[in-house]
Amino acid sequence: MLPIAVLASGSGTNLQALIDSAASDVDFGAEIVVVITDRPDSQALQRAANAGIATEVVTFDEHGNRDAFTKALCDAAEDHGAQVLVLAGFMRILAPDAVERFPNRILNIHPSLLPSFPGVDAVEQALNHGAKVTGVTVHFVDEQVDHGPIIAQEPVPILGEDTAESLHERIQQQEHRLYPEVVKALARHRLEVTGRSVEWR
Ligand code: GAR
Repeated sequence: MLPIAVLASGSGTNLQALIDSAASDVDFGAEIVVVITDRPDSQALQRAANAGIATEVVTFDEHGNRDAFTKALCDAAEDHGAQVLVLAGFMRILAPDAVERFPNRILNIHPSLLPSFPGVDAVEQALNHGAKVTGVTVHFVDEQVDHGPIIAQEPVPILGEDTAESLHERIQQQEHRLYPEVVKALARHRLEVTGRSVEWR
């Protein structure tokens, strides 16, 4: 079993999809050994507790700068034996040190087809831009924001009547299917990274 840490800041629905897959798919290959949040009010904490998974709260404020915050996160993950960090709606940027400690071992999910609409409010950005299609990207994290090698993408059409909420809801349906699939592929050694290219074997 590949031991993974899931990092989440918000409602934790992607965490829930991972918890559910780990519970229902005997071939999943990964075990969530800890859930880490930077927000003490994150629903991720309750979801983890319900599933009997250890939790850690590491706030930015208690560390004061990105380097110290990143070190505390990585230390917490390693203390629980995690070999991979899975960012699931984690809304803080990690310092480059994290990539050095977990090279091609940090996953992120982003609600757009990168490299379009990186950063915060990706759903609103796509809507305000008048795009006809947006989607989901799962990628390895590198030293730049929303930039590392792309593992999987799923398009989602933007409809005339869409609001940010309705669009995000359809994007999340894809996220909840795609993220467990990618984590399983990583756990089962199916992902081969060469430069920016990720091959599924
Ligand atoms: C997800 O839609 C994820 O793609 C997005 O935050 C949401 C978290 O939802 N991530 C980012 O915008 C990262 N830049 P969740 O807490 O319900 O999983």
